[in-house]
Amino acid sequence: MAVSPLALVHEGGTTRIWLGATALTDAASEVALWLAGRRVFVISSAAVRELHREALEGLMGTAAEVVELNVADGENAKTMSTVERLAREMVVAGGKRDSRVITLGGGTVSDVGGFAAGCFLRGIEYGQVPTTLLAQVDASIGGKTGVNLPEAKNSVGLFHQPRWVVSDARFLSTLPARELRQAMFEVVKVGILADPVLFELVESSLADLLTAAPETLARAVERAVSVKVAMVAADEREGDRRRLLNLGHTLGHALETVVGHGRLRHGDAVGHGMLFATTLAEARGLASEDADRIRALLGRLGMAQLPSLKMAPILEAIRRDKKARESGLAWVLPLAIGRAEIADISELTVEKHLASFLKDCLE
Ligand SMILES: NC(=O)c1ccc[n+]([C@@H]2O[C@H](COP(=O)([O-])OP(=O)(O)OC[C@H]3O[C@@H](n4cnc5c(N)ncnc54)[C@H](O)[C@@H]3O)[C@@H](O)[C@H]2O)c1
Ligand SMILES: [Zn+2]
Repeated sequence: MAVSPLALVHEGGTTRIWLGATALTDAASEVALWLAGRRVFVISSAAVRELHREALEGLMGTAAEVVELNVADGENAKTMSTVERLAREMVVAGGKRDSRVITLGGGTVSDVGGFAAGCFLRGIEYGQVPTTLLAQVDASIGGKTGVNLPEAKNSVGLFHQPRWVVSDARFLSTLPARELRQAMFEVVKVGILADPVLFELVESSLADLLTAAPETLARAVERAVSVKVAMVAADEREGDRRRLLNLGHTLGHALETVVGHGRLRHGDAVGHGMLFATTLAEARGLASEDADRIRALLGRLGMAQLPSLKMAPILEAIRRDKKARESGLAWVLPLAIGRAEIADISELTVEKHLASFLKDCLE
């Protein structure tokens, strides 16, 4: 029996999201209709195609023509020049307004491929097949697409919602353990800010999750995706509620900028950021039992150690955060496990807490 997908209703229509161990099969008939008689551009990297090309074949039968477009592996792919090259290849291969794009890969492939689909001929429809845990729980949901500039990450992009997302659990079985661990910080984040059951699941089954035990991982993905879907549906353009998803990211982004993206990974940086948010929250009344549980779980997940740092560049990076408004910076803080708020905190208070939070690594 076909499993019905999650639906994310947004300004431009509905995104259908299939999850779990049979997602590819469950989605096949609808994707077949969407592709029927069209040219489809499948954007992926050589590494992912090698592992998972066959998994897609069952989806493609009705397409008039399948054109494979490659991007480099990892963050290197997310540039304006990749987008230009993809668009030119699409023109040469006969791309039209009603051609289709499918992205197959992690968050880098879906960000750059979604952006290319969003600007080609002012926007053509696309579907996403996320193959990393991070892409399944985060990057594939919400319609944000974009690329990096040498000066700043994710600084050029647009909202372009996919028509559908197929997050099949089988892709995660080939994912390196380090990628699972990095993405698990985002899963814990969702637990802290909105879903106590998800938080408990990670608490009780961390070892299984980090070894990609299929059923447990599928449950965690489903819960994390459901939260993000609800938040995006309530607030597509990141006015208010969606901002809660930035828990841990204010300090996290600043640390990534100051330490260097190559030296500190995003998950680790967000882990440190969530630890700091917990400290700020405790000073405002978060119960110490909850704060201790958050610290214990992050401790078990284990963040990479920070190198020695100076305070001034961190504060400067926090001030320049992309999420900052003219009116200042709002911090996302846990109120309890499963609930969070957005709080204005003075720079002086932040600096005071940060000095003690970072005391072991400040120069
Ligand atoms: N658009 C959004 O809302 C959003 C949200 C969060 C993150 N992102 C973006 O996502 C990107 C990070 O995504 P990521 O963590 O998926 O990294 P990634 O796309 O770079 O993939 C990580 C590595 O995993 C490999 N890989 C992918 N699938 C695999 C599989 N099934 N088996 C084995 N290896 C596999 C890739 O080849 C790559 O080397 C960042 O650029 C970030 O900015 C976007
Ligand atoms: Zn993140």
